[in-house]
Amino acid sequence: MTLDRTDARRRDLAHPLREYRARFVAADADLVYLDGNSLGRLTHAARERVAQVVEQEWGERLIRSWGDGWFDAPLRLGDLLAPLIGAAPGQVAFADSTSVNLYKLALAALEHRAPRGTIVTDTLNFPSDVYVLDGAVRQRSGARLVVVPTDHDQVHADEDALLDAIDDDTALVALSHVAFKSGYRYDAARITAAAHEAGALVLWDLSHSVGAVEVALDAWGADLAIGCGYKYLNGGPGAPAFLYVREGLQSRLVPPIQGWFGQRDPFAFELRYEPADGIRRFVAGTPPVLSLLALEPGIELLREAGMATVEATARDLGTYLIDLVDHRLAPLGFRVASPRDPARRGSHVSVAHDDAYRISRALTAANVIPDFRAPDSIRLGIAPLYVGFEDLWIAVERLAAVVERGAHLDVPAERSVVT
Ligand SMILES: Cc1ncc(COP(=O)(O)O)c(C=O)c1O
Repeated sequence: MTLDRTDARRRDLAHPLREYRARFVAADADLVYLDGNSLGRLTHAARERVAQVVEQEWGERLIRSWGDGWFDAPLRLGDLLAPLIGAAPGQVAFADSTSVNLYKLALAALEHRAPRGTIVTDTLNFPSDVYVLDGAVRQRSGARLVVVPTDHDQVHADEDALLDAIDDDTALVALSHVAFKSGYRYDAARITAAAHEAGALVLWDLSHSVGAVEVALDAWGADLAIGCGYKYLNGGPGAPAFLYVREGLQSRLVPPIQGWFGQRDPFAFELRYEPADGIRRFVAGTPPVLSLLALEPGIELLREAGMATVEATARDLGTYLIDLVDHRLAPLGFRVASPRDPARRGSHVSVAHDDAYRISRALTAANVIPDFRAPDSIRLGIAPLYVGFEDLWIAVERLAAVVERGAHLDVPAERSVVT
């Protein structure tokens, strides 16, 4: 197999999404950006949309804009997102952050499934999700969190052990559909069905799936989901998150934060809380309008591209990257720390190395941006709307050059606060 630059360029000619690259702002043509799974790139359309919202909707229309679309935006954007995650309309809203949405839905689920009191998750989950779930069970006496270990390799989940941990006290199974570090992708339909059989609800954190891989919440029978707006949705730093509640469950869940935006008639200013019908009851308070509307162009772009094409392209790019790592980086002490089977992988590939932190800093200095996840992973995020085969080839060559030249040896070992 030839894995040279000419071959990478030839692959890019057949890249199904190659025309989308020009829709993104790219001030530095030499930069290879592989961190779209932490912060997606800025689209030209989002830049224009934010300017228009600031200048016209806020600057000129002022408070009248609440009636001209701002009030409805959390649900309107939810419906815009819905087909990207396999959801029928009326089940998705944008609100708050992913962490806050997890807390709201976990508490509502615990309340709904009482007297059951256990939440089940596993050690591949994002640590913050585990903290939030731990905080949620502390709100109910007798409730507890079970964190199923994945001791065998920290790359693949132990789905059988997970299913064994679900019993007749399980109120909720809460997992990341694609694990943040290794990129392991769960068999969501299987886990959802097994949890339902045991009488539990299931929540999927889609932060590393949405806009990257195909998600089919309705078809899986999922009950609840949450996810970030600033990663593959390209919504911008601190973009609001989304939440999904299956239609049949909405009227049976009581939001733990009973805010006025989720009240049946907020402008009646009644002192008694009555939840709105439908998904709006899970929107607690005033949305961050500038950030919320900045999300719209990114969602529209993914709808235009189509998730089947995005997923197929991400798989090809990921498999190609793994081939490059085996071929060029394995002799330099790197190993693939993500599943090799594309059906079991999300859209990022992690490579592990004993000196990963210093190498990741030296790689950034060489104008390739990955991120580092302790203790030893360099995450290479593949956002197929703007990442091509040649980008991956360049990234791997620069990574190899860092180690061959020992450029990382000059980097201090003390870690910066944000990695
Ligand atoms: C899988 C996952 N869940 C939750 C979060 C937390 O999101 P937030 O900080 O926006 O609440 C993140 C952030 O990166 C994440 O990757």
